[in-house]
Amino acid sequence: MSVYFLAAGPNNLTTVGEGVDMKKEVSEELITGWQPETIETHKRWLLVNHPLGMPALDDFMMVEDVIPAPPPNKILVRGLYLSVDPFQRLILNSTSRNAEIVPLYGVMMGDVVGEVVKSNHPDFKDGDVVNGILGWQNYAITDGAGHYIHNRAGLRVVDESLGPLNTAASVLGRPGMTAYFSVMRECLPKPSDVMVVSTAAGAVGHLAGQIGKIMGATVIGITSTADKIKFIEDLGYDDAINYKEVNDLSSAVQRVCPKGVDIFYDNVGGPMAEAVMMNMNDGWRATYVGVTQNYNEVGENGQPWKWKMDKPMFIVHDYVAEYEDGRRQMSEWIKDGKLKYQDDIVDGIENAPEAFIGLFAGTNTGKRLVRMNQKRLNGEAA
Ligand SMILES: NC(=O)c1ccc[n+]([C@@H]2O[C@H](COP(=O)([O-])OP(=O)(O)OC[C@H]3O[C@@H](n4cnc5c(N)ncnc54)[C@H](OP(=O)(O)O)[C@@H]3O)[C@@H](O)[C@H]2O)c1
Repeated sequence: MSVYFLAAGPNNLTTVGEGVDMKKEVSEELITGWQPETIETHKRWLLVNHPLGMPALDDFMMVEDVIPAPPPNKILVRGLYLSVDPFQRLILNSTSRNAEIVPLYGVMMGDVVGEVVKSNHPDFKDGDVVNGILGWQNYAITDGAGHYIHNRAGLRVVDESLGPLNTAASVLGRPGMTAYFSVMRECLPKPSDVMVVSTAAGAVGHLAGQIGKIMGATVIGITSTADKIKFIEDLGYDDAINYKEVNDLSSAVQRVCPKGVDIFYDNVGGPMAEAVMMNMNDGWRATYVGVTQNYNEVGENGQPWKWKMDKPMFIVHDYVAEYEDGRRQMSEWIKDGKLKYQDDIVDGIENAPEAFIGLFAGTNTGKRLVRMNQKRLNGEAA
């Protein structure tokens, strides 16, 4: 077993690596007046290679560290659920636009739902359930500050009355807020609209299509397997296309949308998006939420794919001031039986890289999360 000690790093995460005065940082973290009762270790994943193309398991390395004690004005959080997301592919690159990179030997960045074990910060108390960018690790030290790109709101205390813990990183977290604000503010579906959703069985897609249905639109999904088609049809999608089984996606869209498409909700980009766009009616709307198809691409210059635009067309963080309203509405729809969600849960932090890489092979249905601990601090199931 390798035991590494902690040093302060970017994004409230901690980093091991060359050039860091570890002795100093470790001693700062230990002089706090509070210590764990026993010296325990926890697991964390470091990025050890910047992949070109599809990421591989050995781009990541798992290490064991001593569970740290929180210094003044910081808290120690024990992670329960970790979100793995396609956009994280961009932060693996050695340079990136619109997504800060993870430095080599830095802890992999990721959204976490966890519990405060010990707080030395006035905004948090022991036992609070919190959600924020705390990384691929069982325990994290943070001051709760936001990340300027990925989490401008900062660490938030989760309102457990709105839903189970895992939903704080799924339907009531970033993917849910993405679906809610992109559909309700940009697509503006109405009953006469035909709305097409790509990656319709994914984290955002399975929610976006249902919101379109709540607004009365006819909703068509595009996805990759018969099981995923059944999944979205059970959620209320009116029809679906298996893009892996059609030679000409534009003709397939024309077949299921004989009156054309009014709204395109795009999670994928590339040729799939071009095929749908050939079928748009006058007055069409589209929201370009993600370009999963591009994330692993290598350009002719041998460099990873980069955004050609200054920023994606839609950015969920632009709605950060309204998240609480979005969460309340999504939670109400769930309680009223109008909105269903599915979390695709992989157990064990050991499996985080595989869970993440699997997103690019379509192995998830719904929102993929990694359960890092089966039990909460009070012994109840997480
Ligand atoms: N702009 C924003 O603020 C914002 C916020 C959140 C997410 N996003 C973006 O929205 C998109 C969806 O995110 P998500 O979290 O909901 O992830 P997700 O849909 O759960 O992502 C995994 C799915 O992507 C599809 N996929 C993977 N590789 C693909 C490829 N090469 N070509 C086509 N489809 C592929 C697969 O579905 P199939 O089996 O259907 O192919 C897979 O199951 C991502 O691009 C993400 O970066 C943007």
